[in-house]
Amino acid sequence: MNNNRNFMCGVSAAMVLALVAVPFAAFGAADDNAKAKSPLMSIKASPYTERPVENAESVAQGKAIYDKACTYCHGLEGKGDGPAAVYLSRDTAPRPRDFTAGIYKFRSTLSGELPMDEDIFHTITKGVVGYMPGFVGMPAEDRWKVTYYLKSMYAEFKGGMPESITVVGGPIPGTAVSVNKGYKVYTKFKCWECHGGGGQGNGSKAADLKDDWGFPLPPRDLTRLNIYKNGSADIDIYRSIMAGLDGGAMPSYADFFAGEEENVWHLVNYIRSLSQ
Ligand code: HEC
Ligand code: HEC
Repeated sequence: MNNNRNFMCGVSAAMVLALVAVPFAAFGAADDNAKAKSPLMSIKASPYTERPVENAESVAQGKAIYDKACTYCHGLEGKGDGPAAVYLSRDTAPRPRDFTAGIYKFRSTLSGELPMDEDIFHTITKGVVGYMPGFVGMPAEDRWKVTYYLKSMYAEFKGGMPESITVVGGPIPGTAVSVNKGYKVYTKFKCWECHGGGGQGNGSKAADLKDDWGFPLPPRDLTRLNIYKNGSADIDIYRSIMAGLDGGAMPSYADFFAGEEENVWHLVNYIRSLSQ
């Protein structure tokens, strides 16, 4: 197997950004004539169905890959305390994830739930813009094995596959009427308290936000789609709003929008309009 340098080097920001668009774009496109209600990322629809079996052997192989490619940041025992952790973000969030805590930001499951295997695989593949390189150069089989290894660090993953949230409706054309409706939703739900009136991440609460580990965590500047961690396709923004980003300060709005999901699609159009 290649050593980890092959995965790490040559991953330019542009490449990472390019990757962001790939896996979820497929879902966005397929959404055009989607049924009224469809799973966000069902296992069957996933492009990642070809995968090795999950057993003691593949977990052990995943550990060997992890030890080479991930410990530098995530630490020998997965606690997010590798030697690079403090250099990455000395005084602010995010530190590399602590996999023994079972808290995951990038999910297609409800807030408080564990992620689906696909979510973890997806994060490893695309990385986190600005914070973690993508490992698309690593064979998919190895990315699955590392996924299994990460799961083995938190016992509750043994409880079986968590369910994906359902997507109600789908992207709607970003007309002025829709953007205006989205603006009203943004105002009503006080997104501006954190993200600011113009979405620049400078709301009145912004300076006081902390992540679960006590590090200051600034809200995203929503006017910069290219630095979205959780993807910037319509479906990704829907997922961020409905599922929230656990462990941080971005709440889940699934309960608030139950029955009025169309408003989320208007909100998506408003957010998208901020970067134009
Ligand atoms: C350069 C440092 C660095 C390396 C190398 C790195 N990561 Fe990360 N990783 C991070 C940081 C920082 C975060 C937190 C990002 C955030 O919270 O916004 C993170 C987050 C993650 C997440 C997101 C979990 C969630 O909350 O949804 C996963 C999964 C992950 N890393 C897996 C891996 C794996 C597997 C490897 C090795 C193949 C790896 N990382 C290598 C820095 C790194
Ligand atoms: C209590 C503060 C707070 C409120 C209220 C809030 N957010 Fe956030 N939001 C955050 C923080 C902090 C992040 C970044 C989280 C991280 O990096 O872990 C974030 C991230 C996001 C993201 C993900 C961007 C990415 O990087 O992928 C979107 C989209 C978003 N917020 C939209 C909204 C919308 C829409 C509302 C209102 C319905 C809202 N937020 C309300 C704090 C907040």
